[in-house]
Amino acid sequence: MSKQDLVKLTVAHVKKKFIDDTSGHDWWHMYRVWKMAEHITKSEEGVDKTVVELGALLHDIADFKFHDGDIEAGPREARKWLESIGAPPKTITHVEDIVRNVSFKGAKVKNNLSTKEGQIVHDADKLDAIGAIGIARVFSYAGFNGNVMFDPDIKPTLHSSFEQYKSMKPTAINHFYEKILLLKDRMYTKTGKEIAEHRHTVIVGFLKEFHDEWDAKN
Ligand code: ADP
Ligand code: NI
Repeated sequence: MSKQDLVKLTVAHVKKKFIDDTSGHDWWHMYRVWKMAEHITKSEEGVDKTVVELGALLHDIADFKFHDGDIEAGPREARKWLESIGAPPKTITHVEDIVRNVSFKGAKVKNNLSTKEGQIVHDADKLDAIGAIGIARVFSYAGFNGNVMFDPDIKPTLHSSFEQYKSMKPTAINHFYEKILLLKDRMYTKTGKEIAEHRHTVIVGFLKEFHDEWDAKN
């Protein structure tokens, strides 16, 4: 199986599985992360492009949020898929590691991405959670999950463990303070940092507007 064929088959598999998703983890999220990861890769050297592409396409293949908090569901399913299409063992292990470590696990919990390929997939994924699309995804997810939009009596929490983070059902607005506003400073790559800078200002402007309207100021 050629590298291009591995990517092609994975695109078809992920597209089929996620085309109807309404939680903000739809096929087009995987597609944007894939394309952004390719874009970031252009400014990096010595990167295994196939690992980046497969990692981007498979990073949300079985998210813990939809699998009873099971953090191993994603890496397990990524491995199963890659084995079924005959990917090289080294590629499988690397992609599995990326899928395991890419997701956000709390404000005070560090991501552990030690390879360039993992860092690229991480940055591409987090960029899709900020900016205009990031705002749209927060409200899609909150609606899907039955979270309220905003409650001024509930204060944001900066979670210090993954257990604490995943057990909470924050308001959509609090999710910005608990995660989205923190992403800019968690970028690994130069391109990721640059794009995050702009998208972050979009979020800050949106939140100011939201609170001003809430307080009947404008
Ligand atoms: P990541 O890929 O960083 O682990 P998630 O899978 O947690 O991201 O989140 C996917 C999308 O859903 C993101 O845009 C994220 O901001 C949004 N999201 C996740 N949890 C919540 C929440 N509790 N409330 C609102 N949006 C959320
Ligand atoms: Ni994602």
